Amino acid sequence: MTFAKSWAHSSSANLGPGFDVLAVAHAVFQDEVVVELLSEGALKVELKDGDPKTNTATYAAMKMLEDLGHRVHVRVEVKKGIPQGLGLGSSGASAAASVAALNELLGMGLSEDELVKYAMLGEIASSGSPHPDNVAASVIGGWVAVRSSTPLKVVKLPVVGDYRLALIVPDFRMEGKTKKAREMVPRQISMTDHVEAVRRVSSLLLGLSLGDRELVREGMNDEIVEKSRLPLFPFYPEVRKAALLREAVGVCVSGAGPSILILADQRTDLEGLKADVMKMEGLKAQFLVTVVGGGVKVEVRK
Ligand code: HSE
Repeated sequence: MTFAKSWAHSSSANLGPGFDVLAVAHAVFQDEVVVELLSEGALKVELKDGDPKTNTATYAAMKMLEDLGHRVHVRVEVKKGIPQGLGLGSSGASAAASVAALNELLGMGLSEDELVKYAMLGEIASSGSPHPDNVAASVIGGWVAVRSSTPLKVVKLPVVGDYRLALIVPDFRMEGKTKKAREMVPRQISMTDHVEAVRRVSSLLLGLSLGDRELVREGMNDEIVEKSRLPLFPFYPEVRKAALLREAVGVCVSGAGPSILILADQRTDLEGLKADVMKMEGLKAQFLVTVVGGGVKVEVRK
């Protein structure tokens, strides 16, 4: 039996002002995907225990094989380790693992940009639109930015500093959350808001690359996308305030939420913050502490 096994990490997209552009992978969760090559001659993508048309891993695999003209019959198994529907890049990680496994299995030799391009198509199956930020983090690992959409190009950010990542993961899920959250984002913004957002992204990127916590703190701030989605995570302002009082370097909504990402260094009192969060009314959540995760890993067995 010829198959490839792959593992891709969860991630937090946006990082405040970088909607659909910035993301970071976390080491805490990963999905495992097994792609088995059954035969050659005709294109067919099967999903073990599910509908391949609605699963991000198989949707991305199908689009990639179609586009590149590979006539193979494969069976995909997705073993979820990443909680779904909580803004942790779960759908993106499955798609990233799936395209990376196929790339190795069929010896395609695709670049990281091409893997991201195909993996992001999987997001259509889960949220209706192909956004590349989560898949970029899952494919490449570390801190990433999308630098061009046509053609799709991503870049790994040079980050100075050993940050710990705390994730506040609320105990609730909403069907079709990311699609709904994307519909809540304004279609147009004022030039004033645009200028402020560019200031923040500049400050965040410079702060990360210089290891300057004040710049990161100033930059991890968003008044456009997070604000428009606040009804989905009404506890966010209180968590944010508490985190900054406990000397978090930065705080943001993780992707489309409802999870929250806290960037921490030696000055941050994560124990104190955890106690604050556990006491908050109306918020039942897990408080997880992790580090930045690596990129997708693949093993082929022939
Ligand atoms: N950038 C995307 C969004 C990430 O915020 O909609 C979704 O996880």
